[in-house]
Amino acid sequence: MNPIKLTEKIYWVGAIDWNVRDFHGYSTNRGTTYNAYLIMDEKITLVDTVKSSLKDDLISRISEIVDPKKIDYIVVNHVEMDHSGALPDMVDLIQPEKIICSKMGEKALRQHFHRDDWPYEIAVPGEDISLGSKTLSFLETRMLHWPDSMFTYVVEDKLLFSSDAFGMHLASSERFDDEISPAILMDEMTKYYANILTLYSPLVKKLIAKVQEIGLEIDMIAPDHGVVWRSNPMMAIEAYDRWSRNEGKGNALVIYDTMWHSTEKMAKEVAAGLQDEGVSVKLLNLRYCHRSDVMSEVLDASAIVLGCSTLNNGLLPRMAGFLMYMRGLRPANKIGAAFGSFGWSGEAVKLLNASMEEMKFDVVDDGLKVKYVPESCDLSDCVALGRKVGQALKN
Ligand code: FEO
Repeated sequence: MNPIKLTEKIYWVGAIDWNVRDFHGYSTNRGTTYNAYLIMDEKITLVDTVKSSLKDDLISRISEIVDPKKIDYIVVNHVEMDHSGALPDMVDLIQPEKIICSKMGEKALRQHFHRDDWPYEIAVPGEDISLGSKTLSFLETRMLHWPDSMFTYVVEDKLLFSSDAFGMHLASSERFDDEISPAILMDEMTKYYANILTLYSPLVKKLIAKVQEIGLEIDMIAPDHGVVWRSNPMMAIEAYDRWSRNEGKGNALVIYDTMWHSTEKMAKEVAAGLQDEGVSVKLLNLRYCHRSDVMSEVLDASAIVLGCSTLNNGLLPRMAGFLMYMRGLRPANKIGAAFGSFGWSGEAVKLLNASMEEMKFDVVDDGLKVKYVPESCDLSDCVALGRKVGQALKN
């Protein structure tokens, strides 16, 4: 695929990773892209690079426009290897005059590549860099989602290079938001936020407030993954604003794993109790639902009810793994409850509750345990648990 023109002097020159299906534990069912951009000004500037294995794609796309050796500056918005893996080779090839990065970025680049001879230039918010006809200004976005992350803004084009923010894992030959169905964009953007940015929601909230406060006009958002938002950047900004406020949609999830279907029977009755209270509910069996897809559902949910059988005085491994993953992302403002069947000890419910309390969920019940196989009175208790969660949602 050729380079793609974004504006008069700015091109997409990144790489498409059609086959990646696992991104450190996040299932990338539609592949991904590593977006890099070329600004053809008096100072020719490359914004970000790609994963090292795809560097030839980057070089070949740049070469369609200009000899890579003529590039003057490289901007590194974020050091993670999917965007900087190709950097050492690109620096060797280009011999740039400047490598522009945040203060933390310089530190991270030195720690990744151990190159004291590179021409680091610290980007300072408020101190613009002129490329000739274009001006770059910088926003510090520390911990969104790495300590060194920053955004680069092209003043004349009102174009924001937003690093990982507003991105999505989506491999496609289309490069722009208006070329892909909004449902797919929202699906993948939700998954990206849920699995990468949930933990940093308070910072996202502050960033959006800051962007509004300084009146930054944005005509186009060019993230490091997925499509460029040229027609509807507000769709991405409004979604981030909503997610960062952890409001929930008033719905519930029953997330469970089961050994011999007793916990599953309980899950169905808990869901029935929630429905009795008029609550929209989804049942998610961890045997079939990937943890990163479950996190997409968790992002917008208001109540999480966890069910798990007890195995060897603990949790089933899939639930234990899911909880470790979810605890790391720390979703906020959820109502919680737990249930599960057991044979002779029955610690699972206690462990589920402890996990939810650690995440500061509002746990509304001590939890429901059933020995071996639930009988009808146990199933009625499950319905009552669902109803209790449903009532808590209305309060
Ligand atoms: Fe897409 Fe944080 O790297």
